[in-house]
Amino acid sequence: MRVLGIETSCDETGVAIYDETAGLLANQLYSQVELHADYGGVVPELASRDHVRKLLPLIDAALQEAQLTHNDIDAVAYTAGPGLVGALMVGATVGRSLAFAWNVPAVAVHHMEGHLLAPMLEETPPSFPFVALLVSGGHTQLISVTAIGEYQLLGESIDDAAGEAFDKTAKLLGLDYPGGPRLAKMAATGTVGRFTFPRPMTDRPGLDFSFSGLKTFAANTIRANPSDAQTHADIARAFEDAVVDTLLIKCKRALQQTGFKNLVIAGGVSANQNLREKLSTMMTGRGGEVFYARPAFCTDNGAMIAYAGMVRLKAGCTADTRITVRPRWPLSELTPI
Ligand SMILES: Nc1ncnc2c1ncn2[C@@H]1O[C@H](COP(=O)(O)OP(=O)(O)OP(=O)(O)O)[C@@H](O)[C@H]1O
Ligand SMILES: [Mg+2]
Repeated sequence: MRVLGIETSCDETGVAIYDETAGLLANQLYSQVELHADYGGVVPELASRDHVRKLLPLIDAALQEAQLTHNDIDAVAYTAGPGLVGALMVGATVGRSLAFAWNVPAVAVHHMEGHLLAPMLEETPPSFPFVALLVSGGHTQLISVTAIGEYQLLGESIDDAAGEAFDKTAKLLGLDYPGGPRLAKMAATGTVGRFTFPRPMTDRPGLDFSFSGLKTFAANTIRANPSDAQTHADIARAFEDAVVDTLLIKCKRALQQTGFKNLVIAGGVSANQNLREKLSTMMTGRGGEVFYARPAFCTDNGAMIAYAGMVRLKAGCTADTRITVRPRWPLSELTPI
């Protein structure tokens, strides 16, 4: 069986084809980063219009990459939420309509389940149960995962997501959108310990996060110090270390609380090298393992939607002919399979 996966929830148009036995046959991605760069963030209407322009050519490109025609596709999966409503509508309308025209089932995929399952596309996938840390541009969540669809929220950010904090702090440091990866690159040349940022909400019990204070702390530190390149790199380093440490402390707590051995990290921030290294060291020390996807599958992509679509399709979770999207959609509302 082969599933065509479509991702259009934000500023990336992603299309992929996943084969049940052969694995990933095609993966096409178009990033709108340049389109939004002048505005310092995603402009929803521009995002929707660009998905309209790029989606069909990308579907053609994916079929060509896999050397297939639409007759070889057994189902169409598309991101139905959460995300920007207009952007979601493009993928859902095209995906649902193609499935109707091709007379195959459609699968409405939860974007965060896509992120969460992305590490399953790697050579050594995690096995259940595990604690998942979802760290992206819009989410910071710790989840107990006992099976596909059995997701229990353990804690989440009460304000900014980790990726959002990276992007906002990067902006304060004069870096272009999206600043997260740029800040990480700058931090690599920073001096450890020249500045110390707080580790928010680690001094009290619980698994929630708060990252908006770090951005303010960064703004004050930038204002109170010279604006040379090394100072900026040192501030970037202190910010990154604070986010990584905070995530690490909470992951450790979640593992203690659940008694689970393994950890999965997913979403754009899971591409962060510093985070990967520190979590790997921590997990080795605990006799467990940390699993993550290759960097291209940490940020938005069609492959994770095609994979999640295949899993849901096999469990019989197909969509009816209505085209519906859910801009807000808690992961815990998904049905276990
Ligand atoms: N190496 C990195 N270090 C830190 N942050 C990073 C890195 N790479 C990407 N990011 C951050 O990841 C985020 C993008 O990830 P992703 O595409 O998963 O988020 P999103 O799709 O916008 O949000 P969501 O999935 O919650 O809807 C951005 O905030 C970006 O700055
Ligand atoms: Mg995402």
